[in-house]
Amino acid sequence: MEQASPKHEQAQPPLERLSDALQEAIKVVVGTHRKPPRRLKSFLNGTWFGHPLHPVITDIPIAAWLLTAIFDIIWLIAPTHTNWAGLGAFVAVIAGLLAALGAIATGLTDWSDTYGAERRVGLNHAFFNACAFVLYLVSFILRWLSGPGDGVAAAILGFVGLACVLYAGYLGGELVFTTGTGVNHTAWEAAGEDYEAVLPVAEVEENKLYRVMAAGVPVVVLRQGEQFCAISATCPHAGGPLDEGAISGDVVECPWHGSRFRLCDGRVLTGPATVNAPRYEVRVSNGQVEVKRASSA
Ligand code: FES
Repeated sequence: MEQASPKHEQAQPPLERLSDALQEAIKVVVGTHRKPPRRLKSFLNGTWFGHPLHPVITDIPIAAWLLTAIFDIIWLIAPTHTNWAGLGAFVAVIAGLLAALGAIATGLTDWSDTYGAERRVGLNHAFFNACAFVLYLVSFILRWLSGPGDGVAAAILGFVGLACVLYAGYLGGELVFTTGTGVNHTAWEAAGEDYEAVLPVAEVEENKLYRVMAAGVPVVVLRQGEQFCAISATCPHAGGPLDEGAISGDVVECPWHGSRFRLCDGRVLTGPATVNAPRYEVRVSNGQVEVKRASSA
């Protein structure tokens, strides 16, 4: 459990207030409060891609700015013979800045759905990335004004920017590996070998969600007429309880951040989740509803 020092307690409220205001502004821009399907938010989360979009895009500015540093070092060693290196650095700075815009949009969207420790680490991650972006923007302007092959100050700004973006990358790893942000929360769920009785069929009402356990895994069951559907009750995005979500037809909406899943096949329809929920096969036998995790899950 996190221990708060008196200094920590004093420092936290303004930071938390800043985070609240920032998250609310981002939610307004990306349409978090709008009715489904919330296409812009889902697009930025990467739901259409089946993978969080942010970590895919962040590779580009990091690679571009590493290249910038290499070109700048070559140019600094022999400035009179390596104008090509100055030009290469100039192009790489621009490529990094353009890709960073995508990384900022996707990263802020993901961050807007975080709380507590992951939100604080995410804010630090964003701060160092913002520093890097500003440094490279100034570096670009200096290069533009003085010509690609002429700018010691621009190169030095780039080196500081690279240090910022690498530290921000370290914090990004901290977000995933320590706080579990963006990790599929159903990845370690066990699959039973055979069907398991979970409910007497006579007790199951239509259009109502039931939370049951199968092979030690929480599963949510829905009945519509004679059809039964079941998926994991744990939202892949951050572990929200899908059995407490709102249903519309055979679609359930997670009560935590609004991801929507089809209960009959587990397909994710709306982010922030980016992977499908594990699907369960359902049958009725001897008056019992029985479920078994589908092999395709
Ligand atoms: S836990 Fe975030 S949408 Fe379900």
